[in-house]
Amino acid sequence: MAPAASKAKAKPGPPAADPIFEPLHFRNLTVKNRLFRSNISGRFDNYNGSGNPVRFNWEEKFAKGGIGTIITSFVPVSMEGRIVPNYAMIDRDERIPFWREMGKRIHQYDCKMIMQLSHSGRQRDITAFDTPNNLSPTDDPDAVHGLHANRLTTEQIAVLVDKFAQGARRAREAGLDGVETHSANGYLFTQFLSATINDRTDQYGGSLANRARFLLEVIRAIRAEVGDDFHVQSKISAVDNGNAIFPWEKKGTTIEDTLQVVKWLEDAGIDAIHVSMGNSFPHPQNPAGEFPVEEAEKIYNQMLPGGGIRALRNWLIFQTPPTRAVFKRVWERTCPPLDQVEGINLPYAQQIKQAASVPIICTGGFQTASVIRHAIEAGQCDGVSMARTLVANNDLPNLFAAGYDRAPKPCTYCNKCMLNTLVNPLGCYDERRYASREAMVEQIFSVYHPSDTWQPMSDTTKTTKGKTS
Ligand SMILES: Cc1cc2nc3c(=O)[nH]c(=O)nc-3n(C[C@H](O)[C@H](O)[C@H](O)COP(=O)(O)O)c2cc1C
Ligand code: SF4
Repeated sequence: MAPAASKAKAKPGPPAADPIFEPLHFRNLTVKNRLFRSNISGRFDNYNGSGNPVRFNWEEKFAKGGIGTIITSFVPVSMEGRIVPNYAMIDRDERIPFWREMGKRIHQYDCKMIMQLSHSGRQRDITAFDTPNNLSPTDDPDAVHGLHANRLTTEQIAVLVDKFAQGARRAREAGLDGVETHSANGYLFTQFLSATINDRTDQYGGSLANRARFLLEVIRAIRAEVGDDFHVQSKISAVDNGNAIFPWEKKGTTIEDTLQVVKWLEDAGIDAIHVSMGNSFPHPQNPAGEFPVEEAEKIYNQMLPGGGIRALRNWLIFQTPPTRAVFKRVWERTCPPLDQVEGINLPYAQQIKQAASVPIICTGGFQTASVIRHAIEAGQCDGVSMARTLVANNDLPNLFAAGYDRAPKPCTYCNKCMLNTLVNPLGCYDERRYASREAMVEQIFSVYHPSDTWQPMSDTTKTTKGKTS
């Protein structure tokens, strides 16, 4: 997506042994460079969770652009675990052919693919008509939209553990290169891990060991299902910073808690840790940047019908310039200045790296080769993952390889992509980065080309365990 890079801005080529382009050896997987496409969700697929070939086009953009590994967006393991409808899922065996085709297309570029196994818990943006009930360790409504939650029974927890394990098995059967649990950013695993959300009094609540039990059971169940030679990693929130928006809220998970959880994850057989932060999504520090309140005014109108008890409050906030300004100020109270977004999670990643023996991937604003190089050389992390910065410049790794320190038109961290993806196609919505509005629309629509003739084989594929949600 980057405009043709001007030679005048080009710097001399990268040094012979650039750490960015050194392979990274995990226990069960080797990747060609230290650049990972971080999970980024777009509503490219069908309402019922079957995959749509548009997603092939989307992911191929990054593979062509030189990224070593794509970590997929949120792939729900269960129908009620969708944040919004229209994400490709992995909740039944009929989904395997789609992901097999996906893997084949991505592997053509010597790029690996890791599937993010996910469940929203109570933190959903748009509930679906077929699954209006939200499952969570608590029955308190979620903090953002106020969607009601149904407290999970221990029997339901056991079913969910198995759904993650079956999701991992399916990813392996599809020929993908690994799986990641989405145990960050306020979704189901965070709801268990976070003392501020988890109010259970049984073996899944209370002490840190009890709050981590669900995640550890899932990792052990995945290992039992996929064996010891398949790559398994966890994306975790190093800290909750639960008081970032409302100062009277509790902070939640601390880095000390996380260091302990990481040790347990290693004992359970994890191969890598992907470091994020925050007990909600979005959060002023993830994805760090502006909160585009004018965009929110347009988008939130369409969110109202599926909203929870806080939907009207949110809608009102975005309706008038004064209330929008107040919200912006609240957001900016704990959001870093834009020139400090890049590498925001590196201090956490470094602490985790010092305590862990598995490789550490860090997310958060990365788009400058010298910053990434320094982070790897200084031992703060082993690789970085990039989401918005690659949406803005799909070919950023190739630009780095050609000697650019930054893309000519970097991501501005405006976060317009984040709000638009709720109702519009995912892409870069910062008009300032384009020659015209038409050019922006054309770029966003490019994901629909070529239109594909691939047909799902679901009608002919039998489920092996017959387990659907
Ligand atoms: C539109 C959008 C969708 C995202 N979807 C996911 C997701 O499905 N799973 C996830 O773990 N993180 C998700 N993220 C977070 C990113 O993976 C990434 O960790 C975060 O944006 C910081 O990286 P960046 O500064 O390179 O964007 C999303 C971020 C954005 C902006
Ligand atoms: S809309 Fe574009 S510039 Fe803004 S954060 Fe998203 S990718 Fe970056």
